[in-house]
Amino acid sequence: MTQSTDQLIMPPMPWRSVFLGSGAMTPSRIVTNVELETMMDTSDAWIQERTGIAQRAIAGPLETTASLGAEAARRALANASVSPDAIDLIICATATPDRTFPATAALIQADLGIPVAIAFDVQAVCSGFVYAMSVADAMLASGQAKTALVIGAETFSRILDWSDRTTAVLFGDGAGAMVLGAVASAQAGSRGVLAHALRADGRQADLLYVDGGPSQGGRIGKLKMQGQAVFRHAVGNISEAISACCEKAGVKVSDIDWFVPHQANRRILDGVARRMGLDDHKVVTTVHQHGNTSAASVPLAFEVARQDGRICDGDLVLLEAMGGGFTWGASLIRL
Ligand code: UT7
Repeated sequence: MTQSTDQLIMPPMPWRSVFLGSGAMTPSRIVTNVELETMMDTSDAWIQERTGIAQRAIAGPLETTASLGAEAARRALANASVSPDAIDLIICATATPDRTFPATAALIQADLGIPVAIAFDVQAVCSGFVYAMSVADAMLASGQAKTALVIGAETFSRILDWSDRTTAVLFGDGAGAMVLGAVASAQAGSRGVLAHALRADGRQADLLYVDGGPSQGGRIGKLKMQGQAVFRHAVGNISEAISACCEKAGVKVSDIDWFVPHQANRRILDGVARRMGLDDHKVVTTVHQHGNTSAASVPLAFEVARQDGRICDGDLVLLEAMGGGFTWGASLIRL
């Protein structure tokens, strides 16, 4: 199945999606591991040693997935020098929407004053941003939209069981966004979104899930994870998707300037880097400051490295993630 979809020959598209700008937003409330020690039977030493996480941002009572996503999107539009009027596609990757419906993307659209546009959410949990990039890219490349906002926004603190130390210490809240624009392929040069490799395996659904939902139980539910089992799949799955994505784009892993991984666990990042032979200094790591922010983690990490001057115009950047479903995947973009 994965081999056959990867081998599909796509006809040349008239448009190429190019990166125009990015932004991020995290709540101001920082919860350190030391503060968690006062709430549950855990320790800063255990959390840092087993995950690399030192702190996470937690949404305040008035902050929601949509409000964080809207602020990240506003900052991305400013960075791209694109007016809200120019946006005709909004995709929000989230597993923690403000409401069951309407889509968080539509709430963000209203907040930003974006006129009538296409707006919908993508639910692929921690891989959501990579999935959303692929959908936005396909819609831009096929001429269905001209300028897209792709957002990853989450408030996982609202679905954590704060009495379960095996999950509560791992996650945080935040949002990141990118603006992508359609440029005639002939004029894009080497810039643009080059390839994606997406996968899902629903047979693993019970290893990482929320035990509630509108159609089952009628309540929001709380996150449940068999961490070790997820860990066992992570390095192999992510490494395979990176290789497939590079193969599709016709680039070598060693050509990539920056790897921007989903920030679940420092040991997973190190494991992928070892297996793929990556230079550690090319791997953007923010897990210590954000924890695991699910669909927000890749665009948040991207934004940290763009703002501090590491990721620059012309760089070849690989985004990758894995999460509940399981879902996983990679996207390659030349800025
Ligand atoms: O974003 C979606 C993808 N998610 C992931 O990729 C997460 C993948 N999994 C992981 O990152 C790791 O499996 C965890 C960080 C979740 C757990 O690390 P681990 O090294 O697999 O620990 P463990 O589950 O094997 O637990 C080891 C010990 C246990 O105690 P015993 O049974 O050895 O006495 C746990 O009860 O650590 C204990 N423990 C804790 N101790 C202090 C579990 N959580 C904590 C805690 N503080 N917060």
